[in-house]
Amino acid sequence: QVIALVGVPTDIGAGHRGASMGPEALRVAQLGEKLRRRGLDVVDRGNLHGPMNPWQPPENGYRHLSEVIAWNTAVHGAIHHELQAGRLPIMLGGDHCLAIGSISAVARHCREQGRKLRVLWLDAHADFNTSQVTPSGNIHGMPVACLCGTGPRELVEIGDQAPATSPDVFRQIGIRSVDEGEKRLVREAKMDIYDMRHIDEVGMKRTMEEALEGVDADTHLHVSFDVDFLDPSIAPGVGTTVRGGPTYREAQLCMEMIADTGRLGSVDIVELNPAYDKRNQTAKLAVELVESLFGKSTLMRGPD
Ligand code: ARG
Ligand code: MN
Ligand code: MN
Ligand code: MN
Repeated sequence: QVIALVGVPTDIGAGHRGASMGPEALRVAQLGEKLRRRGLDVVDRGNLHGPMNPWQPPENGYRHLSEVIAWNTAVHGAIHHELQAGRLPIMLGGDHCLAIGSISAVARHCREQGRKLRVLWLDAHADFNTSQVTPSGNIHGMPVACLCGTGPRELVEIGDQAPATSPDVFRQIGIRSVDEGEKRLVREAKMDIYDMRHIDEVGMKRTMEEALEGVDADTHLHVSFDVDFLDPSIAPGVGTTVRGGPTYREAQLCMEMIADTGRLGSVDIVELNPAYDKRNQTAKLAVELVESLFGKSTLMRGPD
């Protein structure tokens, strides 16, 4: 299978500038080359285009809504195109609002192929805000809510069906920052959240076994990897750091256990912000983890 890298250089949904430099930082850290060295076939599609960031305050609870719609419409089309051609897309963000475009495309592809969808949302944040409860108006704090049907009509309707998907497909891992109003919403939606307290108590191994439960031969696994999932001590290059995240080893185990399923079908790498980084270390770490996501391990492991 061919892996397609799709760069989406924008920070349109974020509250800090700089995630627009994410795609190039991942290329500089040799994402494509490292995957090719593992024997994988990789094509780099270059970058999508969209409106510049006008850096305006929120209006009616949303910052840059029309620009967010334009970028996500482009992402939806590009990711669906790659999936339809049988390729495995890796979206190089960009901020996390772009998951509205990518995951709506993946959900559409799964309906067309009669496959089940499971989304692993690796993040410090639940990203389940609405215009009513958002503390910031930043749409990168809202993609999961939009994908599940709560949000501005134009974002909820991106794709072939509105809503694009539902809370039961998501497993959120590493969560440690949920806003006050957002807490009630995730509870009402019965979101499956494996927060840091859960990881502390049962460990990453058991957490991943739970999050992957029910994944079978007809399941398409999508990994939405917000780099702020990682502890800021190892991943400072993001706009919204929250301390107390997974360690290097916990993150590696998480990625390796996803690889072991053999069901990985699409990936987002988002929120990488080179403006906050030093010597591109966070991009290098993200690339290392994505290598593990595609099966890199120390020894030859597998069923004996
Ligand atoms: N919950 C906060 C907000 O709504 C932060 C969201 C951060 N999201 C992210 N994808 N980094 O503004
Ligand atoms: Mn497919
Ligand atoms: Mn996020
Ligand atoms: Mn986050």
